[in-house]
Amino acid sequence: MSRRLVYLDNAATTPVRPDVLEAMLPYLGKDAFGNPSSAHRFGRAARAGIEEAKRTIAEALGAEPGQVIFTSGGTEADNLAVIGAALAARDQGRPFRVAVSAIEHKAVLAAAHAVRHLGGEEIILPVHASGIVDEGALTEALGRGVAAVSVMWVNNEVGVVQPVARLAARCREAGVCFHSDAVQAFGKLPVSLADVGCTLLTISGHKIGASKGIGALIVRDRHAVEAIIHGGGQQFGIRPGTENVPGIVGLAKAVELAADEQADLAPCVRSLRDELERRLLEVVPDAVINGWQAERAPHVCNVSIPGTDSEALLMHLDLAGIACSSGSACSTGAVEPSHVLTAMGVPRELGVAALRFSFGKDNTVEDVEAVVAALPKIVEKVRALSAVLHR
Ligand SMILES: Cc1ncc(COP(=O)(O)O)c(C=O)c1O
Repeated sequence: MSRRLVYLDNAATTPVRPDVLEAMLPYLGKDAFGNPSSAHRFGRAARAGIEEAKRTIAEALGAEPGQVIFTSGGTEADNLAVIGAALAARDQGRPFRVAVSAIEHKAVLAAAHAVRHLGGEEIILPVHASGIVDEGALTEALGRGVAAVSVMWVNNEVGVVQPVARLAARCREAGVCFHSDAVQAFGKLPVSLADVGCTLLTISGHKIGASKGIGALIVRDRHAVEAIIHGGGQQFGIRPGTENVPGIVGLAKAVELAADEQADLAPCVRSLRDELERRLLEVVPDAVINGWQAERAPHVCNVSIPGTDSEALLMHLDLAGIACSSGSACSTGAVEPSHVLTAMGVPRELGVAALRFSFGKDNTVEDVEAVVAALPKIVEKVRALSAVLHR
């Protein structure tokens, strides 16, 4: 009998949904493969797919179809938001400076860094131990003058939810562009621009059952960003390049399904996540849940297991057929705590011993049971080895 595999890494990526694949197929084959910029019927068929996709995504997000700019994923959308807003500000004689939170995804942090390389300035907004951004630092940044502020809706490592509605309102009052990376929020929490006044919002397809390499930046003010790649005039020149039509159509299908399912999915994954945490603390009593002090998205559990290291845990879990992710980063061969846990003040020894389990629509209570059954022995082994190595 083949062994049951357990996938608890849905924050890393998800499989393509069958309905998404079905929606994409006509745009890959003979029916609608045309270049959407071509005037003939082949082109018009592809263009119609894009226009329909924009309407679907706009409706799901409380935006307008003309505000949906497709990108190659979350990373590009974040770069377009941060660098594009900084460049637009510079060219309009406003401060060439961006402020981003310390726990952003690297796509935002590295983009802010790139602004510095381009001659601008980056301000890193610290977070409290809870993972929530320090609003005093935001006040200071707004006082200095910034082109844009970027604070993610939900953190990908610990699941902490930021008070984006309030932050967006504060930026709006100050006349500053507010960007939020909603890659981990969309489909897990209600995400509507009708309620939250972001100027720019990032989503990514592969976290919600679309294919990899497709995402979107919602641009509610076209003057707020300047293109960061250059080419033809597609997508108002904000993001030129022949559109990834099958990816776009698939993204729209996934967005539609994820928005429809969100209210039902959230309590299901939350109860699995909470059950995992409750039982983990029973079998490994000194485990520490990271991010518990703040509101968290329902699908993420980040746990540190003292006396271990995440890479060893991950390897043993993988051998046991369980896929999750580490809360640390492996740089130049040495395990280092992630920048997120470090920014939250998690001690180093806990930071290097962090695991992230992330749930999705296909997980069941049997998956929780598999982890709880496997983990105590694995922890024992890793601790024993670690004790020998550090003797
Ligand atoms: C919060 C967040 N932002 C951005 C990204 C990058 O998205 P993509 O993989 O589509 O480039 C990810 C993916 O891990 C993410 O979790």
